[in-house]
Amino acid sequence: MRTLSFGYGPHHCLGAAAARLQAAVTFERLLDRFPRFSVDAAAGRFAPGPYIRRYESLPFATVD
Ligand code: HEM
Repeated sequence: MRTLSFGYGPHHCLGAAAARLQAAVTFERLLDRFPRFSVDAAAGRFAPGPYIRRYESLPFATVD
């Protein structure tokens, strides 16, 4: 399983609670609207840059 890191110790992310809440709301809404979908992780593209690894695009499709 992959986990999202918010750092550790005195510099632990100040926005971690807000980011987790936003993620929870996002996934709840996504699942409400598309209860079944698949993610094509192999087709995902990462944004350039040395510091933050994030998807620029991550195709997904609904499943019947
Ligand atoms: C998914 C979203 C986010 C991720 C993955 C994330 C990740 C991180 C990580 C790994 C650190 C530690 C950096 C280090 O050790 O030098 C950090 C620090 C920090 N984050 Fe976030 N963050 C997120 C969202 C946010 C949001 C929404 C805010 C503000 C509203 C925020 C504010 C901060 C601040 C101010 C620090 C510096 C804390 C310090 O140095 O004492 N972050 N974040």
